[in-house]
Amino acid sequence: MAGAPEDPPLDGTRVLLGVTGGIAAYKAALLARLLVQAGARVDVVLTRGGAHFVGAATFEGITGRAVRGEVWEDIASGTHVALGRAADVAVVYPATAHTLAKLAHGLADDLLSTTLLAATCPVVLAPAMHTEMWQHPATRANAVVLAERGVVLVGPDEGELMGGDAGPGRVVEPEMAFEAVTTALAARGPAGGRDLAGRRVLITAGGTREPLDPVRYLGNRSSGRMGFALAAVAAERGAEVELIAAPTELATPPGVTRTDVVTARDMHTAVMARRRAVDVIVKAAAVADFRPEQAAPGKLKKDRGAPAVTLVANPDILAELGTARGADPRPVLVGFAAETDAVEEHARAKLAAKGADLLVVNDVSATDAGFEVEDNRVLLLDRRGGRAEVALASKRTVAERILDAVVVWLDAPEQG
Ligand code: C5P
Repeated sequence: MAGAPEDPPLDGTRVLLGVTGGIAAYKAALLARLLVQAGARVDVVLTRGGAHFVGAATFEGITGRAVRGEVWEDIASGTHVALGRAADVAVVYPATAHTLAKLAHGLADDLLSTTLLAATCPVVLAPAMHTEMWQHPATRANAVVLAERGVVLVGPDEGELMGGDAGPGRVVEPEMAFEAVTTALAARGPAGGRDLAGRRVLITAGGTREPLDPVRYLGNRSSGRMGFALAAVAAERGAEVELIAAPTELATPPGVTRTDVVTARDMHTAVMARRRAVDVIVKAAAVADFRPEQAAPGKLKKDRGAPAVTLVANPDILAELGTARGADPRPVLVGFAAETDAVEEHARAKLAAKGADLLVVNDVSATDAGFEVEDNRVLLLDRRGGRAEVALASKRTVAERILDAVVVWLDAPEQG
C-alpha cells in the first residue's frame, strides 16, 4: 500500500464560490483566499443579499477575476450555463435558509441559483442562519432533500450568531469549508469519482447490544459514524453498498441498502449470509466479544439482589470471514482495531490473527479522536507490511482514505 495520498493540489481546479446574504459573507473572502493560495481558479457569484454584506471589489482583489452578480448581464454568452459547466466544484459559503430552500426546489431566479441548476459538479453548501431557522421543519426537510441528492452540507457549527444570539447555525470556519471542497474533489477520483463502480461493498457499523433482560443490555461507545461515513462515501464513489447497522440514530446515507441488527449473533448471521455476494467487507462495527449466557425473560428486580451474570464468547465475525475465505482473495476484508497501548504491535498481531487484508487502527487513548466524536485519526496497516497514517480529519475524509486503500487492494493483480 502506498502512503495515504495527500489532499489534491488545487492547481488548475475551477471553483465556483457562491456568496449569499448572511453576515458570515465576510468570511467568504478568507475561503476565497485559501482556494486561490491552493492554486484554484475561483469564480465568485455574489447574490444581491451577499452584496449587502461584502463588496465585489474584495473578491476581485483576491481572485483576480471579475465577480458575477446579475443573470441579466451578458446574456449572449450564457453566463450561468458557462459558469456551471466550467466548475469542477461549487461551494456556497455562507448558504442562507432561503438559498437552501431554492436549491432544494430547483428554483432559478438569480445568477447563483441558475448556475447551480446548470452545474453537474459536486456542490458543497455551508449553511448559516439563526438557530430557529436551521431547526425549522422546512429547513430540515430542504437539507435532507439536498443531502439525498448528493449535495455536501458542511456544518453549521454551534456558536455566536448575529445580534448577540448563540446556538447551532453559525457557518463553519473557512478552513473547514476548504476541507469539504478538497474532499468533494478527491471523491471524484481518477475515474470521475466513481472508482468503486461495479463493486459490491458490505459495511458493518455501530455497537452491538447484548441483552441482560428485556430492557437492559451490555453495549459499547461506538456511535456508528465511521461506518456510516464509509457507506456514504462508498456509495458516492459508485459502489453498491449494503450496510449492516447495530442500533444508532444515524440516517441511512443515500443509495445505501440498510439492514438493522441488534446483537453480535444477528450481525454474524447477516454478514455470513452475504459474504460470497460481495467484493469487499468493511467491519467498522464494534462487536461485543461476550454476551450474557442467558437474557432474563422478565425485568431483573432490584429487591432480588445483584444477579450473577455469566458471560459467554460471541462469534468473532471477522476472524470467521478470514478462515472461511481461505486462499481466495475475495472478498477483500477490512477490519478495525481500537488499541490503547503498543498500538502498532498489537494491531499487526490482530491483522494476522483475523486473516484480514487491511486494518484500520484507532488509538483510543486519545480524547480528540475515535469514539463519540466527529473526527478521527487512524493508522492503516495492510497484510503485506504496508502502513500509512491518516492525520486527524473528519470521519468522511478518513473514510475517503480508507476507501483509497481498498481501491488499491482491489486493483492489485496478486493478493498473496
Ligand atoms: O478483536 P477486536 O474486537 O479488537 O477486533 C476488532 C475487529 O474485529 C473489528 O473489525 C470488529 O468489527 C471485528 N469483530 C468481529 N466480531 C467480534 C469482535 C470483533 O467481527 N466478535
